[in-house]
Amino acid sequence: LAAHFTAKCLRGQRLLITAGPTFEAIDPVRGITNLSSGKMGFAIARAAREAGAEVTLVAGPVHLPTPRGVTRLNVQSARQMQDAVQSQVSNASIFIATAAVADWRPAEFSDQKIKKDGSGDVPAMSFVENPDILAGVAQSAQAKSGKLYCVGFAAESHDLLRHASAKRVRKGVPLLVGNIGPATFGKDDNALVLIDEDGSKELPHASKDVLARQLVEEIAQRLTAPLG
Ligand code: CTP
Ligand code: CA
Repeated sequence: LAAHFTAKCLRGQRLLITAGPTFEAIDPVRGITNLSSGKMGFAIARAAREAGAEVTLVAGPVHLPTPRGVTRLNVQSARQMQDAVQSQVSNASIFIATAAVADWRPAEFSDQKIKKDGSGDVPAMSFVENPDILAGVAQSAQAKSGKLYCVGFAAESHDLLRHASAKRVRKGVPLLVGNIGPATFGKDDNALVLIDEDGSKELPHASKDVLARQLVEEIAQRLTAPLG
């Protein structure tokens, strides 16, 4: 592995990667978000940089240091994440979506803090669907013409392989990576399953740093393989 890394398997590639959760504000003091530490995405950004890629990291609200040599754009909401991705994607040759994007946001944002009125009533709240950032990028001409290699992630609570395989097809990405086991959030280790058109392959339990390097190598191999 180390030898491959000194060989800089992503030299000349430009990686755009999303990481962390998004935060969808309800009012100035509240919002909804997802469980995501950002650690896997940051580890991939670091590993890709070490493998020679130019890396731009679009990060939701997380408290993690920026990996050395990586350009970071901080965002809060899914729409801000989408705007940041769209502003950078034309320059990218690889797009990896590790972010746990909130699927819905509150339909209304209240400029003022919503107060209890003393009656015990709870506020009615409705939601609208957020844009699917990965699906949008994967359906772009840049991706469809083979100039941009797209990788998605999936965290499923059950039937990982079935859901993740279906998700790969639905999103239109060549590679979909599943987190094995539900309780990866915040941890420093994980296990992954890589799903592509040829089937699936497990990367067994290891630190997120080790898995990130393995994943970078897997992606590099797929970039050089002839398009199938
Ligand atoms: N994703 C995205 N934008 C969204 C939702 C998801 O870019 N609005 C990306 C994630 O970063 C991940 C992949 O799509 O790479 C799969 O996300 P996931 O939440 O597992 O899939 P969904 O399509 O949202 O389906 P569901 O949550 O219902 O399983
Ligand atoms: Ca989702």
